[in-house]
Parts: sequence; C-alpha cells; structure tokens
Amino acid sequence: MFTNAEIGIDLGTANILVYSKSKGIVLNEPSVAAIDLESKQVLAVGTEAKNMIGKTPGRIVAIRPLKDGVIADYDVTTSMLKMIFKKASRKMGVSLRKPTVVVCTPSGSTSVERRAIQDAVRNCGAKIVHLIEEPVAAAIGADLPVDEPVANVIVDIGGGTTEVAIISFGGVVSCNSIRLGGDKLDEDIIQYVRKKYNLLIGERTAEQIKIEIGYAPIDHAEMTMDVRGRNLVTGLPKTVTLHSTEIQEAMRENLMKILDVIRATLETSPPELSGDIVDRGVILTGGGSLINGMQEWLSQEIVVPVHLAPSPLESVAIGTGRSLKFIHKIQKAAR
Ligand SMILES: Nc1ncnc2c1ncn2[C@@H]1O[C@H](COP(=O)(O)OP(=O)(O)OP(=O)(O)O)[C@@H](O)[C@H]1O
Ligand SMILES: [Mg+2]
Repeated sequence: MFTNAEIGIDLGTANILVYSKSKGIVLNEPSVAAIDLESKQVLAVGTEAKNMIGKTPGRIVAIRPLKDGVIADYDVTTSMLKMIFKKASRKMGVSLRKPTVVVCTPSGSTSVERRAIQDAVRNCGAKIVHLIEEPVAAAIGADLPVDEPVANVIVDIGGGTTEVAIISFGGVVSCNSIRLGGDKLDEDIIQYVRKKYNLLIGERTAEQIKIEIGYAPIDHAEMTMDVRGRNLVTGLPKTVTLHSTEIQEAMRENLMKILDVIRATLETSPPELSGDIVDRGVILTGGGSLINGMQEWLSQEIVVPVHLAPSPLESVAIGTGRSLKFIHKIQKAAR
C-alpha cells in the first residue's frame, strides 16, 4: 500500500529516531554507518554498524557521519538516511513514498548546516521537509505546555550538543547551545585512562564507563569497574580497576561548561518569566541527562527544581512527530 506518510526524525549525533504519526517511535538506532572504503558503499547502519566499531578489518570502517549535532559527511549521511527510511517503512508496514518530514536541527546551527540537513532528507525522497529547533521539539515531546504564556525551560544534553532554551507561547524566548555533550565526556575518559594508566580504551568502553560509574560532581557512594584495554607500554591487553571518583574528576571540566550555559540562559530570562522558572523549574532531556546524579547536581547549582523528562532519549523524536500538526504555527513564531 502506498501512502503519503508523515514522520518526524531526530537526526542526532548519537542516535537516529523515527516517529510515525500513527505508530509512535518506529525506529531508534545509533547514528553509525559501516563503509567499505574501496567501493565507498554503506554496508550497514544503526546497531549493526555500531557493533562493528573498532572491530572491523582495514577496508571496512564504522563511522559517525554526524558530529556536534550537524552533518560532517554529507554523502554518508544521505546513504545512511536512505537505509533508515527503508528500515522504518518495513517497521511501519507501509511504503514511505514522498513522506512529509519534520526533522530537528540544533538551535546553534548555521543556515548552511540547516540547509544541508534539509537537502539530505529531501534526497531520500521526502516531499516536504520542515525544520524544527531541537529544544522546541524536546519541550513538545516532554509534554510541556509550549503554547501557553508560561516559561518552559528545557535542557537537552545530547551526544554532540547541549541546548538550553526558554520557550513560551510557542516560541523561543532565549536559547543557548554549546557543541559539547556526552561524546566529549567519553573522550575525557579515554584521555584520563591513557594518561593515568597508560591504557588505551575504545569509544564504546569509555561510554560504558560513563554510563555505569560516571557521576556528576556530587558526593556519592564510590563505585568501581574493571576495564580492559591495550597497555601502551607493552602493547599487551591489560585490566585496570577504575573508581567513580576518578571518572567524576575526568568529566568535571566539561560538565562545568554545561552548567555555565544553563546559568547564562537563565540569567537572560525576561523578569516576567523568572517567577515561572522558580515555580516550574527546568526539564532535562537527552541521553546526557541520564548521567548519575545529574538532576541532583543541577538543582543544587541553579537552585530551581530540576525534573527529568518522561523518556529523555525519545523526547525530541516524539516532539518532531507531534509538531506535524502545528508546524506552520511554530515556524511563524520562530521567524
Ligand atoms: N544512561 C546513560 N547515562 C549516561 N549517558 C548516557 C546514558 N544513555 C545515553 N547516554 C549518552 O547520551 C548521549 C546520546 O544522547 P542522545 O541520543 O540524546 O544524543 P543525540 O540526540 O543523538 O545527539 P545530539 O542531540 O547532540 O545530536 C551519548 O553520549 C550517550 O553516551
Ligand atoms: Mg539530540
């Protein structure tokens, strides 16, 4: 059956999600493509490709074509999106022929970067492509009353970007974005383990360490984790035991930068909205908001209530899909 489907896409640095109006989230996979360097063909995308990272023979590389929330490799992004469209249409049980698509872009992206995202989606066969700012989508997906004249503060900590926005009456009142998210924290952990233990660990191991024993800068009961990597001196495999306090230290500097952006945004809030912010607080979305102790730490630092969205990793995708109904209104408000 052919149908002019309407879908929302969260084209994230770390994860791609597709939301269908009728079925909700139909696809949620890592933004990774495995490429054959000789034929330049994309062999696999998503989970299948992520499982190949760091484990493939020389001519096959697993790459992440999006960096810092925007397209770093246009051709690979387009090929990856085409395969994602195919997977999504299989899951939806309909052929995605000339769909209308809403796709999010980081609020700090340039017009050239936005155009690239729009073109890439259009190249995959979309008939109409609407863009929505990521924090607006996150707020809609987190069930915030974005249409009402009250301040909704959203903090979306993704893989490549962190966005902070105050949204009221369907529009962005104030927003800030920084090209720093969970991925940089993984890099911090890799650097730390290399320097302190002469041990080389991969991206996936670093991410596991962050998820299991990574803590925001607050007091906590210490945890440990055994980690394997390659000893840089002997070249042989080696295991070390890492403590949560040392990982916390490794991530501290970048977490403080995220805090600075949140503070800076709150400081620019119009006085009439400040009361709302004190009452209603801040909503966290994005995978980075799941770092242990994040909610507690931020509420201590900014002294307003901090809440976690119902499904932080899905908020943006849900919001892009739901916005299909009133995208024209949002785009007008944004102009
Ligand atoms: N339980 C968890 N604890 C800590 N970090 C997590 C957890 N789950 C996911 N993450 C991290 O969240 C990040 C991915 O979040 P998300 O899917 O929101 O990013 P994205 O939307 O793809 O990126 P962006 O919006 O920056 O383009 C990754 O860095 C991942 O390691
Ligand atoms: Mg995101």
